[in-house]
Amino acid sequence: MSEGVSVKISPSILSADFAKLGDEVAMLEDGGADWLHIDVMDGRFVPNLTFGAKVIETVRKRTSLPLDVHLMVLEPERYFDDFANAGASGLTIHAEVSPHLDRQLTRIREVGCAAGVALNPSTPITAVEDVLDKLDLLLIMSVNPGFGGQQFIRRSLDRIARARRMLEAVRSPAVLEVDGGINRSTIVECWQAGADTFVAGNAIFAAANPKDEIRTLREQCTHRA
Ligand code: DX5
Ligand code: ZN
Repeated sequence: MSEGVSVKISPSILSADFAKLGDEVAMLEDGGADWLHIDVMDGRFVPNLTFGAKVIETVRKRTSLPLDVHLMVLEPERYFDDFANAGASGLTIHAEVSPHLDRQLTRIREVGCAAGVALNPSTPITAVEDVLDKLDLLLIMSVNPGFGGQQFIRRSLDRIARARRMLEAVRSPAVLEVDGGINRSTIVECWQAGADTFVAGNAIFAAANPKDEIRTLREQCTHRA
């Protein structure tokens, strides 16, 4: 990948003010977000509990941006149809709870969504090596999933670099996304390591001006080491 390759910023609505979710979505779109990241948590795969199809549907009505849905749930296949119907653009499932990745990724494409796999910080990158042809997105978790506002795990940089090499080896067009602890400084290193798509929650919503922050995050990704 070289300079000029498109960088995507995918703000996570997990850090939004839910009392005014519609306004927050409009603000993110106006601020230049490329995608919106929607964190679905079931209180079982991860300790936290968030939301489901109803919120995806609500967000869908307020924006035409692609909805990047991250499923931190057991048995994610139970939700593919509902979430696709609610307006999800991509569905990303966790390798740790997806013993039939080949079948599950095929099914995500069948329901009309981009098929993604997320890997926890302790999961070997090779977990997706044999399904690369079915993969539209690879998500490297740079925190242990469950909560916004956690600290970036630095070992993730080497994992991003290895993931990029693995995708390049088969000329995969898959998006390489990173999620967790992304801010003005960590985004630069992730970009240099080979990521092209960046989830950010706390960095955007805790900023004095969230719209400016989206632009600032994107501007960090202009130079390669
Ligand atoms: C964490 C979620 C993330 C989270 C990122 O489990 O998957 O998408 O919202 O939040 P920040 O950017 O605050 O680390
Ligand atoms: Zn996420």
